[in-house]
Amino acid sequence: MKMKPMPRIEIQLDKIRHNAQILKGLCEAKGITVTGVVKGVCADPQIVNTFIEAGITSLAVSKTIHLEKLRKANIQATLTLLRTPGLTEVQNVVKFADISMNSEIKVIRALSEEAIRQEKVHKIIIMVEMGDLREGVMPKDLPDFIREVLKLPGIEIVGLGTNFACFGGVLPTEEKMQEFSALVQKIKNQFSLHLPIVSGGNSANINWIMETDDVGAINNVCLGEAILLGRETANGKLIPNLFPDAFKFVAEVIEAKQKPSFPFGYRGRNAFGESIEFQEQGWTNHILVSVGRQDVFVPGLTPMKPLKIIGASSDHIVMDGKNIQVQPGDEIMFAPNYGAMLSLMSSPYIHKTYIEYKGSKHEKQSSVYSFYKHNNENKIIQR
Ligand SMILES: Cc1ncc(COP(=O)(O)O)c(C=O)c1O
Repeated sequence: MKMKPMPRIEIQLDKIRHNAQILKGLCEAKGITVTGVVKGVCADPQIVNTFIEAGITSLAVSKTIHLEKLRKANIQATLTLLRTPGLTEVQNVVKFADISMNSEIKVIRALSEEAIRQEKVHKIIIMVEMGDLREGVMPKDLPDFIREVLKLPGIEIVGLGTNFACFGGVLPTEEKMQEFSALVQKIKNQFSLHLPIVSGGNSANINWIMETDDVGAINNVCLGEAILLGRETANGKLIPNLFPDAFKFVAEVIEAKQKPSFPFGYRGRNAFGESIEFQEQGWTNHILVSVGRQDVFVPGLTPMKPLKIIGASSDHIVMDGKNIQVQPGDEIMFAPNYGAMLSLMSSPYIHKTYIEYKGSKHEKQSSVYSFYKHNNENKIIQR
């Protein structure tokens, strides 16, 4: 009998393509282009190709190694580094990126010197801090900052950008977006800048895009999670008409036994230095699968059957199987959130399996939707 690879992440490409097409249409109807963020899938070329097939020709990653990977795969798209580069990365950024997002003058000076060395003009988007407290130049410092950048040869400012709900959870409200637009307009006027890219955020901006009557100066968003997992990240809600289940994680049962629910013997800390609390529930249906914290961000997994994850060590997830009967060799399927997807796609220990349904038929969409809605809605992590 031919065994399926284990553990594996199943990636349904047609669902990702569908999500990308719908979001592209939705944003373009408001005059906003979509940059597809593929860092969450380790810049996987097959997934990247589905973005391109959906008409998304601007892609963003957060690691120079991913820029190089996309160049080597001959991906025909504009490539942006969406994290301000480290000084040690400058050479590869100029070599492999079309555009990088930046917030430090020291780094931009280094990019300028490197661009001259490589006989190139390197394009940059200057990131603006609008309150979320990750990257960005403070608005009050922006004019002086831009004045300095404009002096640098080999550097072209092609845009201004900002980000919301990535660290501090600050939301892209109508007021915030108007404030950013007004700032952009002021800078454009002050420096007679063209600024082809004004990037207003990420998957947390979906509600704003759908609801606003006036996108102001914003003409771009960088979308990762919305395309990959069909979810807006401001409230963690599913986006109507998108597939939330393009990614499924499948692990193999390696032990299934009746065991006490409470550890027996003197207790100290576990392998991760933690003291876990257990509840006495008598004997339970104890299930182990052959993956652990080395492979996946375990809190980001939701079992697709009524099982409960109790905890995990490096190479095991321990579950209370409730009334589910399984035996070694059986498969247990999980819905990954963004953090779990990111770890699974980055792990060399997880097989990547691609599925492509050519027809229009997808499995009972309404029950799938309600599973994700009820189980996964609030499982969002910072990144
Ligand atoms: C600068 C920037 N823009 C956009 C994104 C994409 O975010 P999301 O997956 O919420 O769309 C990220 C993070 O992945 C980011 O760091």
